[in-house]
Amino acid sequence: MCTVTCLASINIAVIKYWGKRDEVLILPVNDSISATLDTDHLHAKTTVMTSSTFKEDRIWLNGKEEDIKNPRLQNCLTQIRKRARNSNQWKVHICSENNFPTAAGLASSAAGYACLVVALAKLYQIEDDITSLARSGSGSACRSVMGGFVKWCMGSESNGADSIAKQIVPASHWPEMRILILVVNDTKKKISSSIGMKRTIETSDLMQHRIKHVLPNRVKIIEQAIIEKDFKTFAEHTIKDSNQMHAVCLDAYPPVIYMNDVSHTIINFVHAYNEAVNEVKVAYTFDAGPNATLYLLEENVPEFVGVLDHFFPPGINLEQYRKGLTFKEVINSQELFNKINTTRQAPGSLKYIIYTKVGNGPKYLEDP
Ligand code: DP6
Repeated sequence: MCTVTCLASINIAVIKYWGKRDEVLILPVNDSISATLDTDHLHAKTTVMTSSTFKEDRIWLNGKEEDIKNPRLQNCLTQIRKRARNSNQWKVHICSENNFPTAAGLASSAAGYACLVVALAKLYQIEDDITSLARSGSGSACRSVMGGFVKWCMGSESNGADSIAKQIVPASHWPEMRILILVVNDTKKKISSSIGMKRTIETSDLMQHRIKHVLPNRVKIIEQAIIEKDFKTFAEHTIKDSNQMHAVCLDAYPPVIYMNDVSHTIINFVHAYNEAVNEVKVAYTFDAGPNATLYLLEENVPEFVGVLDHFFPPGINLEQYRKGLTFKEVINSQELFNKINTTRQAPGSLKYIIYTKVGNGPKYLEDP
């Protein structure tokens, strides 16, 4: 019996992957950039086992056996076995679970496929690039195979050989970066990312403008901003890219709508806060759902959380999500509240928030 266990976490894109040029190979229409989050908070944990007694491949997700014939899973397993350096005849049993708060409604496929591929790569002794293997399970998963800030280069080859992810900088390059996930809704998303991006690419006229005239430059600018730790430029382009992804979704026919009223309240609130402090201190971004992810520097967390606590009743409880992150006292400034109060809309309600940081990527655990 041979066993490998590993942890991998979700990533949150600042330049969104939205649209495929090849649906089967999962090849994107643009480069995308994300940060991989710390494995302490939102991770998948996967154990893969092989034994001469196993007659067939099997998989359990969060304790429940799932259909191993799932096409994306099969795709992934086939690609991995083609690259195996030992025996590609071995059958595997896979157990995967995630530690996401059950109500978070956060996408788990990126962490799940990244974790599966990293674990199987060790079992099958695959040593060169494995990001394309994770990509064959779910596009954004290729960026969770590494820590820090990661770029998925779309590539140009039709077989996808050059569509791989590369680390821009490790987490240690910008250790002050913090992430707050504002969970506003816990229900499963109505339109999956795959369907939403397919409809957008097929029907949105604005999408062509995004791909040809906006993204090539924006990718370069944000990459440079990360390298130079230029928060203002990083934040402005993160915000604009999120808004543009949701704008092309709205331009699809029928429109694809992921954000709700609370999401829009958060957008207005972040802009009102940045205006009140006369500096871009917080960036927001939204994936294919209503929950907001905020990027901000550690030094600004106490003040921002203070205003968040004030304006989003019944207040927030960070305690259970702090896990090892130092969190100085929340700042309560009536003067700041008054400034924001003049511009804000009616408050929405947040289910809870998760406080985390950029992480180092997948890690192997000792035998369970
Ligand atoms: C909005 O990776 O979930 O999160 O490749 O079809 O599995 P598939 O899609 P998926 O799409 C993620 C879209 C996004 C943006 C991003 O992460 O870049």
